[in-house]
Amino acid sequence: MSTPAVTRGTRRRESFSGRSVFVFAAIGSAVGLGNIWRFPFVAYDNGGGAFLIPYLVALLTAGIPLLLFDYSIGHRFRGSAPLSFRRMNRFAEPIGWIQVLVSFVIAVYYAVILAWAASYAWFSLDERWGSTYDETATFFTEDFLRAGSGFALDFVPMITVILVVVWVVTLGILIAGVQKGIGRTALVFIPLLVVLFIALVIRSLFLEGAMDGLNNFFTPDWGVLTDPGVWVAAYGQIFFSLSVGFGIMLTYSSYLKRKSNLTSSGLVVGFSNSAFEVLAGIGVFATLGFLVSSGAGVGWEDVGGGPGLAFIAFPALVSQMPGGPVWGVVFFLCLILAGLTSMISIVEVVISSFQDKVGVSRLTAVLSVGGPMAAVSILLMPTETGLQNLDIMDKFANSIGIVGIALVALIVVMYAMRLGPTLRDHLNSVSSFKVGPVWIVCMAVITPLVLAYALFGEIRSLISEPYEGYDAAVLGVWGWGMIAAILVLSVILSLLPWRGARHLDGPPERDDDPSDFFYEDELTRNSGESSDALSTTDTNQEG
Ligand code: ALA
Repeated sequence: MSTPAVTRGTRRRESFSGRSVFVFAAIGSAVGLGNIWRFPFVAYDNGGGAFLIPYLVALLTAGIPLLLFDYSIGHRFRGSAPLSFRRMNRFAEPIGWIQVLVSFVIAVYYAVILAWAASYAWFSLDERWGSTYDETATFFTEDFLRAGSGFALDFVPMITVILVVVWVVTLGILIAGVQKGIGRTALVFIPLLVVLFIALVIRSLFLEGAMDGLNNFFTPDWGVLTDPGVWVAAYGQIFFSLSVGFGIMLTYSSYLKRKSNLTSSGLVVGFSNSAFEVLAGIGVFATLGFLVSSGAGVGWEDVGGGPGLAFIAFPALVSQMPGGPVWGVVFFLCLILAGLTSMISIVEVVISSFQDKVGVSRLTAVLSVGGPMAAVSILLMPTETGLQNLDIMDKFANSIGIVGIALVALIVVMYAMRLGPTLRDHLNSVSSFKVGPVWIVCMAVITPLVLAYALFGEIRSLISEPYEGYDAAVLGVWGWGMIAAILVLSVILSLLPWRGARHLDGPPERDDDPSDFFYEDELTRNSGESSDALSTTDTNQEG
């Protein structure tokens, strides 16, 4: 019997070849810049060793439960974030689009940090940043970034060129697909990252002053445990670091085969991410102990997290330590490896949604949405105001975007749609480690309460005083304006018709249901028939 034209135009959803590839990809997404430069200082600022207690509580009551929440949704409803929420209920679709748009914003600025890291790997060879902390600080803000404020669009040529390369590499990996691109990259990058990072941490422990640094990091300040802000910091760290709440883990789990052990994968990913985070804390503080004792003009009060740590404190350290250039390259390479595997996961959230909604091939999807994402990033980030734009977008995307949409998703799924028991049963039906009432309580009560407290506290403080003293107009555009644009766009996108995924009500029964996914450009190329003619036809399948 001849194969009807429609069947050539129908495609199975892509998948990871097995659970281990998925676990590597998920660890690759989780372990990122948040682990290396954010965790050590969040811990230090919030009680040092004592912070590990709220951190562990946050991991167990919110991080891993929310990871399983994301897995259960993506795996059961087998779609990108908007498609999965649409399959739950037509009115829930904007939740998925908000997650996509938050990911869009994060990708726009995450990319430029990778470009900085690549530049600094190169600079490590000749230590052109000087040798004292003051010199490296001046080099970073004035010579390298030429940092300014306001709305200027003056490009810094070197960063612009490297940022273009970062986007070309990211989109190239994504064009290669879920298994060949995302999966294989993680299989190579993550083991390499672990080896290099462990070498770096071991080296740091042998530096003079390392033990002082570790004492500074681990000495507990038990008093902080009664401070709600410390608990909020612990929960905030877990969300960004584990990549939960903004569509990434949901999207990755939709690429898992139907019979896949979800909960044990979640435990492996959650604990690996935290192990890496604590390792980063040890390495960072051991090296800072050396830096403070080395006479580079740095005191403990000078160094902070974020760009200041990686691009000011570390360069000063590289200039002071024996074999500095080699360790400088290793450190910045670790940032690139960790950051790139996270970056591809963030962009994949957007690509996957576009593909599901519009029904185009991966290549077309990557070019049509990855291209504009890269353009926005290249327009805003390698400019003299890039650091300011990054800082504001990061603050609003994390403190309001991720926290807010995680809260809304939990309330809608657990209370409005009452899907908690369904998702729990789904997790248990495929997993060895079973979840029960504790998981439901975490998702329905504990996490929403903490998220609500964090969200309203942040909104209050952002309204009461301008974030970091930035100009009101700039905060209005890249902060509040961005949040408003995300909300409006999410509703508009949810009103557009679905042309890719055809099965919109409830979870699809089978992955190879031809009414499930439908990539129109494959169709037109193969058969030239109209999409409507094809929506009801037969079952033959292209893999
Ligand atoms: N989870 C990623 C990170 O930590 C986004 O950077």
